[in-house]
Amino acid sequence: MTIGIGLLGLGTVGAGVAGILATPSGRHPLVGELALRRVAVRDLARPRPVELAAELLTTDPEAVVDDPAVDIVVEVMGGLEPARSLILRAIAAGKPVVTANKAVIARYGEEIAAAAAAQGVYVLIEAAVGGGIPIIEPLKQSLGANRIQRVSGIINGTTNYILSRMAAEGAAYADVLADAQRLGYAEADPAADVQGGDAADKIAILASLAYGGNVPRAAIPTEGIDRLDARDVAYAAQLGYVVKLLAVAQAMPGSPAVPSAQAEQLLDVRVHPTLLPKAHPLAGVNGVNNAILVEGDPVGQVMFYGPGAGAGPTASAVVADILNIAGIRQATGNGTNAPLDPLLAAGSWRPCRLVDSAVTSHRNYVRLRTSDRAGVIGAIGTCFGEAGVSIQSIVQFETQSAGDAEIVVITHEVCEANFRQALAAIEALADVQAVAACLRTL
Ligand code: NAP
Ligand code: HSE
Repeated sequence: MTIGIGLLGLGTVGAGVAGILATPSGRHPLVGELALRRVAVRDLARPRPVELAAELLTTDPEAVVDDPAVDIVVEVMGGLEPARSLILRAIAAGKPVVTANKAVIARYGEEIAAAAAAQGVYVLIEAAVGGGIPIIEPLKQSLGANRIQRVSGIINGTTNYILSRMAAEGAAYADVLADAQRLGYAEADPAADVQGGDAADKIAILASLAYGGNVPRAAIPTEGIDRLDARDVAYAAQLGYVVKLLAVAQAMPGSPAVPSAQAEQLLDVRVHPTLLPKAHPLAGVNGVNNAILVEGDPVGQVMFYGPGAGAGPTASAVVADILNIAGIRQATGNGTNAPLDPLLAAGSWRPCRLVDSAVTSHRNYVRLRTSDRAGVIGAIGTCFGEAGVSIQSIVQFETQSAGDAEIVVITHEVCEANFRQALAAIEALADVQAVAACLRTL
């Protein structure tokens, strides 16, 4: 029984998917039963890395969704619109959808899930987070029994590739970003990668699954690597740390011990460059690789690791979702959609609220530009002490200009509000020229 596939997009991911469908030999037998029926692109004349019959291509994505020969719609075009409307159109037509589009799912996931539930069709999103790493299905299913304490990870391949090459080779930021674009890792607009928005989309999705509620995407504090100074990466290395763009979601005290559909879940969700001790399990994750550490009770720590972007890994996840749907269609009879994912369909999602970051606690790295004079370190220490901020280490680094110093402070875990109070007092010191950098530390 052949199952017709409609592809919305034939770029990095779409071409990867078409490549797998065109070469079923040696793969799961179901791959051989998937037939590519229509493919939407913007530019019919653009050369493609896969050979497709010209009549498959169209510039009308609605025609792909509406084609009666298309049983499953695969959205890999990216962007918010028309992607969202096309997904909803497919659902309204009773067609299951596979998408890699984390931007759409992070913003419109609730609307899409509700529409899918009403129609009884699947919308599968394994490729939306972690590229080739299976993380969506494990969170939805395999780890469902746990109280999830924290989900943290490196979930943007482009920025990890950039940071890894800057640290290993001293490569220039702009050159490595251009390489990431050439390799198909970066988003169409790479600002989403380097400014942290892509990782924020992904952690919103992971947090929603881990905590069983819709996480307000727009409220996630997000900082990227675009303003990261190579000097801080170098100082961090000298102090025994690596810098990674980390996405974190954790339950806060005050969250209900026994979750229910009514009780509000309080979460700390954020994205920022972070100093990781070199021995931390995420510190050795380099290049385009991603890793997600899930901490839960009673499972303990589970880490998922692998290639987080690129045509092959992402297409691997997309095609796995297609196969899941295809397998269920075959088992239940052609044209019949089985019930949705049992956990997501249970109607037990609860409201989630993000905590005010002023009440969260962290370790911090601070770089100060100061005069190189007796008493400066003492005055800085006093400001921290008076605000109740305990210092783990304070180190002075040499600078090029005589009379100036760079002082790096690493604090113990302190309340963010106290830390900000200390920084305000330090900035007001006559010998402090600037708080040049402020990064979180694990
Ligand atoms: P891409 O290389 O830019 O490809 C986008 C494709 O969609 C292109 O073929 C483009 O046509 C087509 N397209 C865009 N807008 C269209 C429209 N309005 N009508 C018809 N066709 C349209 O993007 P990508 O890297 O494959 O990413 C696709 C999606 O997967 C995005 O949501 C992205 O976030 C997600 N994703 C990407 C990766 C990755 O590693 N690249 C990994 C995970 C998830 P033309 O080719 O004619 O321009
Ligand atoms: N641009 C994304 C990244 C693609 O670099 O991680 C994978 O989602």
